Amino acid sequence: MSANRHEIVEKNTGLLAILIIVAISFGALVEITPLIYQKQTTEPVDNLRPYTALEMEGRDIYVREGCTVCHSQMVRPFRAETERYGHYAVAGESVWEHPFLWGSKRTGPDLARVGGRYSDEWHRVHLINPRDVVPESNMPGFPWLAENKLDGKTTAAKLKLFRDQFGVPYTDEDIANAKASVEGKTEIEALIAYLQSLGHAMK
Ligand code: HEC
Repeated sequence: MSANRHEIVEKNTGLLAILIIVAISFGALVEITPLIYQKQTTEPVDNLRPYTALEMEGRDIYVREGCTVCHSQMVRPFRAETERYGHYAVAGESVWEHPFLWGSKRTGPDLARVGGRYSDEWHRVHLINPRDVVPESNMPGFPWLAENKLDGKTTAAKLKLFRDQFGVPYTDEDIANAKASVEGKTEIEALIAYLQSLGHAMK
């Protein structure tokens, strides 16, 4: 009897397709639904603070210059990685990131925990010409960053967008002061401020 029922499904491809979709959907629901309700993936870790206006500008420069092409920002939970970079990346560190810069391409080292590893001056020299501090480096130099100045015209709007659209807890004061706190600074200062902030919540 049950063999016959099985035969019905096997010989009727339309029915078979529908049952396959039901089975796969069920499997997907079992995997996805718990993630939606798991606080761990949607709530910031304890020490997370929003980027300052200057760090936010630095992050945009990081994206613009394509640093993501060679650098990931995600430490995988393997011993070889945690010994080199520090604590593995957790979801609660990235809840205010838009877009995520996790990446997977590592021509250079992972930068998720690079904040505080070098001095500001080291980064300055390294970004202008990496070979001045790491002779064998094949990272390109970004000397124009030391000359380009920020005007801060869009900084307040960026912070406001992150607050209104993504729920990042910026205060009205943060937004009001945004322009003044970046205006006249060089792009390299902003980028270094951003780099030095990376990983702060998990130290
Ligand atoms: C073509 C690939 C490439 C690009 C693009 C690139 N890097 Fe690198 N980066 C490297 C390599 C390779 C190293 C390792 C050698 C060195 O330290 O210079 C490195 C090292 C670094 C380090 C030191 C990390 C450590 O833990 O020692 C920092 C910081 C860094 N890069 C930042 C940046 C930033 C910021 C940008 C964008 C402005 C950028 N990189 C763009 C390849 C790249």
